[in-house]
Amino acid sequence: MTQRADPSGTPPGLDLLGPCGAEIACLFTPPFLVLHRLSGIYTARVCLLLLLDLGWEARLRQGLTLEDLCQELPAQARKPLAWMLPFLVGAGLLQCQGPSFLLVGTPDLDLQGLRDEVEVAAPGHRSNFDLLDGVRSHIRPFFLEGRTGESLLFDLALFPLWLAYFRNENLAYLPNNLLTLLALREGLPTGAKVLELGAGAGSFAQLVAQRGAAEGWLGRIADYRYTDIALAFLRRAQRDLRTTAPGLPLSFQSLDLNRDLGAQGIEAASLDAIVGINVLHVAHNLERTLVDLHSRLRPGGRLVVGECMKPDLDRPLYLEFFFTFISSFTEVELDPQWRPRHGFLTPEAWAVALRHAGFSQLQATPPPRPLMDRHPDFTVGAIAATV
Ligand SMILES: C[S@@+](CC[C@H](N)C(=O)[O-])C[C@H]1O[C@@H](n2cnc3c(N)ncnc32)[C@H](O)[C@@H]1O
Repeated sequence: MTQRADPSGTPPGLDLLGPCGAEIACLFTPPFLVLHRLSGIYTARVCLLLLLDLGWEARLRQGLTLEDLCQELPAQARKPLAWMLPFLVGAGLLQCQGPSFLLVGTPDLDLQGLRDEVEVAAPGHRSNFDLLDGVRSHIRPFFLEGRTGESLLFDLALFPLWLAYFRNENLAYLPNNLLTLLALREGLPTGAKVLELGAGAGSFAQLVAQRGAAEGWLGRIADYRYTDIALAFLRRAQRDLRTTAPGLPLSFQSLDLNRDLGAQGIEAASLDAIVGINVLHVAHNLERTLVDLHSRLRPGGRLVVGECMKPDLDRPLYLEFFFTFISSFTEVELDPQWRPRHGFLTPEAWAVALRHAGFSQLQATPPPRPLMDRHPDFTVGAIAATV
């Protein structure tokens, strides 16, 4: 989903990718590299166009601070704007003068040209851009009427675009699943009981079934409990996954990681692996959730966390545009030590949080440093943490 080579388009060398390097390197195809680069540019243009849609061009041309902009807006507007303004500076579409943000000249905001380019380089990926357009066209009432991001972005019109995004065929999303799969696969015991959190559209379960069968390790999984808080995803998975993830011994359950897991029927020390891809960052109290997850694993069991990873906490990632309007992403309990920010974290911040919750033997796929120092656009990874 989120890694990109450096601006010159050079993918990281095998020496930076760790023991699974050869499998990871396969992700850096030319279509992926183009898609990733253009997705960042497209997101930035959509982001500025949204501010112009909201009627703020004249004020941006005069220069204004976050405080200026937030006056007269619902309080919920502050976090997205605090993300959007520096993101646009980083993308070269706004200038920063002290605390003020300034629109200068006539920036290139052409979207169609980028769409055409991506259709040539990575055919079939226009729906990623449709999702960005959908966020732009749906989100205005968030700023103007105080409507929630959830109600505006998870409606029937956008749901198919989210489903289209969270697929292994989406080159931009596949790395999230593949890196997590590599981390899960290592050390999976025979007869393993696995639970997936926030399993959503089911793309990870499909990849486990497909790669596990092809590589001969699927039989090691005795039970794969597919869970999500959203009933729409669960129902869809129950209907489709026995066909699309053949051979995976599935069971299904509604599960909210913010509620006590024991009270939701997950017995203590009963699981060999718990895996979650881009879901654990919504834990309202990350410490409580990680401690609870730790207690559900057998000794030697592993929590495998697949996440978008920030090279440093202050660097905006283009993917955050989707989520910065969602309260479960932004409204979490913070702690300066082990939950320094809402949303996506650095690999180091995850390591601190996992150790704080009692996990040990942390293994990252791929090892994040020096990789992310040399390729700051490599922004996805998986960490396996042992009980
Ligand atoms: C970013 S998506 C991850 C997508 C998923 N891995 C896939 O490939 O489709 C996050 C998922 O977490 C789920 N989720 C959100 N809040 C949750 C919670 N409190 N407990 C469990 N799942 C949650 C959402 O319903 C969604 O399916």
